[in-house]
Amino acid sequence: MPEESKQKECSGGLRMTRDRVSADRKRIILNGRTVDVNQLVPIKYKWAWHFYLDACANHWMPTEVSMQRDIEQWKNPQAFTDDERHVIKRNLGFFSTAETLVGNNIVLSIYKMVDNPECRQYLLRQAFEEAIHVHTFQYIAESLSLDETEIFNMYRENKEIYEKDEFSMSCTDGIMDVTMDLTTTEGLQKFIENLIAFYVVTEGIFFYSGFVTMLSFGRQNRMPGVCEQIQYILRDESIHMNFGIQLINTIIEENPYCWTAEFKEYMIQRIKRAVELECAYAQECLPRGVLGLNATLLREYVQYIADRRLEKLNLPQQYKSINPFPWMSEVIDLKKEKNFFETRVTEYQTGGALEW
Ligand SMILES: [Fe+2]
Ligand SMILES: [Fe+2]
Repeated sequence: MPEESKQKECSGGLRMTRDRVSADRKRIILNGRTVDVNQLVPIKYKWAWHFYLDACANHWMPTEVSMQRDIEQWKNPQAFTDDERHVIKRNLGFFSTAETLVGNNIVLSIYKMVDNPECRQYLLRQAFEEAIHVHTFQYIAESLSLDETEIFNMYRENKEIYEKDEFSMSCTDGIMDVTMDLTTTEGLQKFIENLIAFYVVTEGIFFYSGFVTMLSFGRQNRMPGVCEQIQYILRDESIHMNFGIQLINTIIEENPYCWTAEFKEYMIQRIKRAVELECAYAQECLPRGVLGLNATLLREYVQYIADRRLEKLNLPQQYKSINPFPWMSEVIDLKKEKNFFETRVTEYQTGGALEW
């Protein structure tokens, strides 16, 4: 190599060239594992860029939301039954560490495997949102003077939360190995299993008993600050899930050999297992039912949303349950969202409808 060229080559594999990057050559996974500048333009996957723009337009911070009424209500011994306090604390406990678990998986696993710059741009934004969500539960626990160690340790003291977290984390373990080869069917399937465990199961199923229950309090003007924050988290999570499903489906489209009948059946069984874990969690949260909610209705709801997720992965429905909470669809609909709880709501810019 001429001396001049050697000087222009960087140790990370970067070199000077007039051969410009073309969108046609971009792929989600290159299995390159080289350090480069992560060149964003030209953008090939416009959906990833638009998810990033939508996420930025939805920016919010938990500290913008007043907790005054929540504090007054929580301090009033008459305001909640023991069962109501139990389910509120359980959900705060679950979310407080589930959010960090998702953030960890993005940074430690997904970001390394996904080479495409526009997808990485979204992943960086999502990782920040997970940090905001964790901040939210710290802010809630502090505002309500809850025992923070009780809330943040619940994942290892409560069996139902532990089992949900264990389900997700077992899928991070496998792809922490930096030598994992995504050019093999086995390697790629392991990565897709991780993406489904996080985007479809954790963010798309495990969060939903908590969303329904907490938002049911909001519908009665109880815990309005917490519920406003949960509403924003739900909207963020809907984008996370939709991005993740698009990512999974694009990887499958680019590598169809990995989406075998056997692997599809395995993923269906994993999703069905996740539904059972979520139903067990709902049962423990609501042993007697509150606010017109009970474990039976939550089972129907969890099965209903699991079918929606399966459909988006082009997999067959398993339950055919009816949605017992049609009002949840309104919370997802951004156009109606502003008046949902009639609280002070920050004006958000986005008008893009999300698919439910
Ligand atoms: Fe989150
Ligand atoms: Fe998320």
